[in-house]
Amino acid sequence: MKTIFSGIQPSGTVTLGNYIGALKQFVELQNEYNCYFCIVDQHAITVPQERLELRKNIRSLAALYIAVGIDPEKATLFIQSEVPAHAQAGWMLQCVSYIGELERMTQFKDKSSGKEAVSAGLLTYPPLMAADILLYQTDLVPVGEDQKQHLELTRDLAERFNNKYNDIFTIPEVRIPKVGARIMSLQDPTKKMSKSDPNRKGFISILDDPKTIEKKIKSSVTDSDGIVKFDKENKPGISNLLSIYSIFENKPISVIEAHYEGKGYGDFKGDLAAVVVKNLSPIQEKYHSLMESDELDRILDMGAEKANIQANKMLKKMENAMGLGRKRR
Ligand code: TYM
Repeated sequence: MKTIFSGIQPSGTVTLGNYIGALKQFVELQNEYNCYFCIVDQHAITVPQERLELRKNIRSLAALYIAVGIDPEKATLFIQSEVPAHAQAGWMLQCVSYIGELERMTQFKDKSSGKEAVSAGLLTYPPLMAADILLYQTDLVPVGEDQKQHLELTRDLAERFNNKYNDIFTIPEVRIPKVGARIMSLQDPTKKMSKSDPNRKGFISILDDPKTIEKKIKSSVTDSDGIVKFDKENKPGISNLLSIYSIFENKPISVIEAHYEGKGYGDFKGDLAAVVVKNLSPIQEKYHSLMESDELDRILDMGAEKANIQANKMLKKMENAMGLGRKRR
């Protein structure tokens, strides 16, 4: 069975973008692959986090993984900082990374531009992400489009390590969904929907209540020609909404376009809000019951135990390849 690894940062509300680009794919893939799903809290601290808020977000993200349908008996769900091999392997991979290639990462450029105090962790984030992936002999990494560049770097680092030291890493492939790889902001459809958007109207949280969802969709920015048609270049707003509709209703975009021919954006947006609410309600119910139970801790303990065993095996191989410590039999 092939292996999948993917992670989400517990750095705020999980958005519809994270759900469509990542979580939804995870649920579909867990039956066919040996899956590791991670709450990457060490990535979250590359930008300042409030301690108690971070703790809350870690637990909340764990509950969301389960609420969307991740089955902890099938997939290994764990918290990155509870598997120390990630930070250890991340250090080794930093030592095979070049500063220039890290500085060229668009996410680094975006998050550091115009800031005075930028943490070194923000720059060395990609080798830690590579460590997450490479520790598990990962074949496939399902992510949204924004992570593609990090995945390319992961492949480069793995190949560089294999050539220079010992051929121990599997070179992972990236898997980006065909529709919904980049869900856009509802307020500025030329920008990615992001959980760190200061304008909360720009994103839908998986936990937003029905009224809020309806308000956000109804006030989303579209265009003035009033035709429900997919045209990413000229009609980015309505195209983004059409993608969301298509994913949730599992219908081709052309069928939805035909259905709304001659109708205005008002009808379409109202129906889309109902579709989103219908899909998110069962997830929200499950989420709230999980947050009140002890089940989550049991799942996370089990996940950390399984992940530690696997990751430590690879860490030893990496240390041997680089000549760290003493060789053990
Ligand atoms: P993060 O936490 O920013 O996002 C989690 C996942 O959601 C996807 N995503 C989106 N997909 C579609 N449309 C959007 N608007 C959108 N916004 C986010 C992301 O592509 C991602 O798949 N560096 C990663 C976390 C990470 C990781 C890893 C991922 C750390 N180690 C190892 C895979 C493998 C991140 O910041 O994702």
